Amino acid sequence: QSGQKVEAHRPQYHFSPKAHWMNDPNGMVYHKGTYHLFFQYYPDGTTWGPMHWGHATSKDMLHWQEQPIALYPDSLGWIFSGSAVVDVNNTSGFGKNGQTPLVAIFTHHNSPLEKSKKSDKYQYQSIAYSLDEGKTWTKYAGNPVLPNPGIVDFRDPKVRWYEPQKKWIMTLATKDRVTFYSSTNLKNWTKESEFGKEVGAHGGVWECPDLFPLNYNGKKAWVLLVSINPGGPNGGSATQYFVGDFDGKTFRPYSTQTKWMDYGTDNYAGVTFSNTGDRVVLMGWMSNWQYANVVPTATWRSANTVPRELGLQEVNNELYLTSNPVKELNALSEKTKTLTNVAVNGQYDLTAKTGGKADLFKLTLSAPATSNFSIVLANEQGNELLIGYDKAANSYYIDRTKSGKTDFEKGFAKRHSAPRLSTASPISLTLLADVASVELFADNGLTVLTDIFFPETNMSKVFIKSASGITLPTLTYTPITPSVESG
Ligand code: FRU
Repeated sequence: QSGQKVEAHRPQYHFSPKAHWMNDPNGMVYHKGTYHLFFQYYPDGTTWGPMHWGHATSKDMLHWQEQPIALYPDSLGWIFSGSAVVDVNNTSGFGKNGQTPLVAIFTHHNSPLEKSKKSDKYQYQSIAYSLDEGKTWTKYAGNPVLPNPGIVDFRDPKVRWYEPQKKWIMTLATKDRVTFYSSTNLKNWTKESEFGKEVGAHGGVWECPDLFPLNYNGKKAWVLLVSINPGGPNGGSATQYFVGDFDGKTFRPYSTQTKWMDYGTDNYAGVTFSNTGDRVVLMGWMSNWQYANVVPTATWRSANTVPRELGLQEVNNELYLTSNPVKELNALSEKTKTLTNVAVNGQYDLTAKTGGKADLFKLTLSAPATSNFSIVLANEQGNELLIGYDKAANSYYIDRTKSGKTDFEKGFAKRHSAPRLSTASPISLTLLADVASVELFADNGLTVLTDIFFPETNMSKVFIKSASGITLPTLTYTPITPSVESG
């Protein structure tokens, strides 16, 4: 982003708004060489409020240029989460003289603060279109296009084209399940089916679903993402997923095992870009409703996760989602230092070895799954963030108990753990650090943990620790160049 200031806790290669409040990524779409990110935005404050769609554009999903607000609240309500599609065949008729419209499908939410509109059916779906490549948007005069049938939580439409039946499919969060609708013109919607009342995690309301196919081993499966709040595996908001078949009407999971896309507490409401062909790329909101409104950033709140390429992998006859940083990140990578057979007995000072920074880097390593070990980010204030492997539990963890400022919310200072799903040997880890966040992609993205933290000053040291001793066959350390321009 140009003109972004370097402030305490400001991420340097993750998207964050220049100022004010942000939550879910919305309407992510690739169009004519540009990635568009819209986002839940409150331009008048640093806590959640009347929702707008903010807008940013990028050529590589890492250098973002913030644009004017795309959608403002109106007489139908605030602008909640939703998606955007390239209407290639102009099914909506919004295109004039051969233009291809971009169409946004979003939830209108009547402000519960406006008493005159108070009702228990205050969410319905609306659309807007752009004929100038996302710069300006016109709301459809016939909104809402999908009225509320009497369900309080009725939101976050994610729309995709279903080619075999030449129709649009809307995946909608409807309280404790997902409801699928279809349309041929984005204006008239027909209910197809429901999914999920009896399966999956139900510790909180279902939100921000997404449905997309993925190829694996020459086959194809459909993935259904469902964010839930609260009820995540380590508390608060998190995203579960199901893998199965979809026939244009019904989603059938292959298994009813509850699966989590990310075990950290800071990857929520993530959805995928439209129009990226076979490539499936997700970004999530790097925060959690448990504390998003009170984290110690001064002029803005929240950032997004790094864009992640999704895939499928089979382990013991179960299909799991994998997430890995997009290859575009390599362009921000500085010179990599490669170390082999790194013997760690007690504590190994990686910073002394590499001379590199401890706040902006990518680390990869392989390790035998036979000993406990951890990667420790530290600073002169005695703040410590631990990322590790626990052999007895066969799990990974991030421990932010002593990571700096934590007292803004009582549940923040915690250790978060995640099962190791892979049975392969050795362990392989990729860790991304960016000032106030770490993202751990273990075993090729089979187990993922994303956590934010707020050190008193930026981390300045990286150690590898192992009390029992361990030799790491390979380790690479790569400093990352900011994609945010300071000014
Ligand atoms: C998820 C969510 C969505 C809703 C939006 C409101 O974080 O609660 O369900 O559309 O945020 O800002």
